Amino acid sequence: MAGFTLTPWEVTGDVDYSKVMEQFGTQPITDALLKRIEKIAGSMHYMLRRKIFYTHRDMDWILDEYEKGNTFFLYTGRGPTGPVHIGHMVPWIFMKWLQDKFGVEAWFQFTDDEKFLFKEGLTLEEVGKWTDENMLDIIALGFNPKKTHFLIDTRHAGTMYRQACRVAKKITFSTVKATFGFTNEYNIGEIFYTAMQAVPAFLPSVLASRNIPCLIPYAVDQDAHFRIARDVLPKLGYYKPASIESVFLPGLEGMAEQGKMSSSKKDTAVFTIDDADTVRRKINKYAYSGGQSTVEEHRKKGGNPDIDTSYQWLRFFEEDDRKLEAVYNDYKSGVLLSGELKSMLIEKLNAFLAKHQKAREKAAGKAEDYIFRQD
Ligand code: TYM
Repeated sequence: MAGFTLTPWEVTGDVDYSKVMEQFGTQPITDALLKRIEKIAGSMHYMLRRKIFYTHRDMDWILDEYEKGNTFFLYTGRGPTGPVHIGHMVPWIFMKWLQDKFGVEAWFQFTDDEKFLFKEGLTLEEVGKWTDENMLDIIALGFNPKKTHFLIDTRHAGTMYRQACRVAKKITFSTVKATFGFTNEYNIGEIFYTAMQAVPAFLPSVLASRNIPCLIPYAVDQDAHFRIARDVLPKLGYYKPASIESVFLPGLEGMAEQGKMSSSKKDTAVFTIDDADTVRRKINKYAYSGGQSTVEEHRKKGGNPDIDTSYQWLRFFEEDDRKLEAVYNDYKSGVLLSGELKSMLIEKLNAFLAKHQKAREKAAGKAEDYIFRQD
């Protein structure tokens, strides 16, 4: 797409989210849909209200079925290449809310095969280590172990591969090339991989021997996989998976400068295992500021919260609308200085991370309670 690249493996440039919606053929989350979700869920998640989750496919259908008693399940995933950053947490925080409010099952896929196949120099042992580490972050968010199931592609190959074959048989090489931009130089594992990412979208239906609607929360980078899955699954007799999709948490230097937060840009990402000093140092040094160059000028002209990373990050992590609005207005009018805004973000994020890190420590040894076992 003009001005930016957006694939499951590469996001660069300033993503134009309305263009993404148009080109992927997804629907906007309208106020009417928000009201409907709020009515059924009994409350409204701030990421929905703020349109961080801004687009979807078939959410209305998911709610229709839910109201008829045909409950959906949730599915999302993680490609374990390194430590989890706070951008990865965005779909998971939202998914936790969905699980609580709708009382539904949640499936997580750990794509160790994908990361091994796509990342130069990464061994299967290393991906295995990151799978174990990353599971702790998801457990730490408080998912209900009785209703949450982890699938690890290589470990659950016995269950998953049969289903992946059914999917793969319906996908041609030219579809994969056109959808992901692959060339003849890609290895054959990469070409097959999307079949594996489709599997959790219907595996619960296979296991239950009845069709269960599936809702997948993710940031827009993963969409290509599910465009293919939506094409293939009905051919196998299953529902098309529905989705609810978010914008990206930008890296510290801002979306225009460096695109989404990414694990490969370590200084401008915040990882869930970063300590308080590291977080402070990264934000003070790298957070793109929408402020003026001198205090006098800032007081006179005010700052621009819409391009200021600290403000943008607070939109993702400050749940209180009134607090957020006050920050916006005070920054815009020049009452709040850039340094003060950074301090607010540092405090907010470090409080969030301190709590998360404690929960993460407690999660050690609990993975087996979540890892799928077919009894
Ligand atoms: P991965 O590990 O690259 O990303 C995990 C999840 O985080 C989202 N994400 C972000 N969200 C907000 N801001 C960001 N800066 C940001 N960066 C990443 C991704 O959209 C994703 O939801 N192949 C997948 C793993 C996977 C999966 C799935 C993801 C398997 N099945 C189903 C979503 C849904 C991957 O490597 O994700």
